[in-house]
Amino acid sequence: MQRTRDDGYEVSTDPARLDRDVIHDFLRGAYWSPGLPRDVFERSLLHSIPFGLYGPDGRQAGFARVSSDRVALAYLGDVFVLPDHRGHGLGVWLVRCVLEHPELQDVRRWYLATADAHELYRRFGFENAGDPERHMFRERSAEELYGGPRP
Ligand SMILES: CC(C)(COP(=O)(O)OP(=O)(O)OC[C@H]1O[C@@H](n2cnc3c(N)ncnc32)[C@H](O)[C@@H]1OP(=O)(O)O)[C@@H](O)C(=O)NCCC(=O)NCCS
Repeated sequence: MQRTRDDGYEVSTDPARLDRDVIHDFLRGAYWSPGLPRDVFERSLLHSIPFGLYGPDGRQAGFARVSSDRVALAYLGDVFVLPDHRGHGLGVWLVRCVLEHPELQDVRRWYLATADAHELYRRFGFENAGDPERHMFRERSAEELYGGPRP
């Protein structure tokens, strides 16, 4: 999948285009995956649809990825726009591109976790789980798994 905005920004799911150094550098410092080891990051790409966001100069400007069976569940994670590119609607556009991906149109349940970007996702129909009695999940923290940020 490849989309281009009028101002030259692009979203592409081509894994070969990803600037893995830039993405890993952001994610190992992100609040949800502090200390993310490089090999774990690479493995997460192997099993995901990666959505690279690129500036008009072709350089990495953001990222998101989806892990899914394409039917019952899709997990949207590692969503970010690099600081220099924020505030121009790119986060919204990136999430829209993800949700419009042709292979993900039959998904029954989308899942994501966020500390403070609820409003971004709410506009696409995401809601807080309405019936906690029906939903269970098992979680291990990034700190527990990776031991926190590394130099
Ligand atoms: C969240 C993020 C992707 C938004 O990117 P962006 O390109 O600046 O976003 P947009 O310009 O498309 O605007 C996002 C909209 O969501 C809103 N929003 C809600 N929560 C937000 C948050 N925590 N951060 C930024 N915007 C937020 C904005 O106010 C804006 O609404 P508006 O269009 O009514 O002004 C970006 O700030 C980012 O990478 N943050 C750090 C990583 C992160 O927190 N990722 C989300 C993890 S779930």
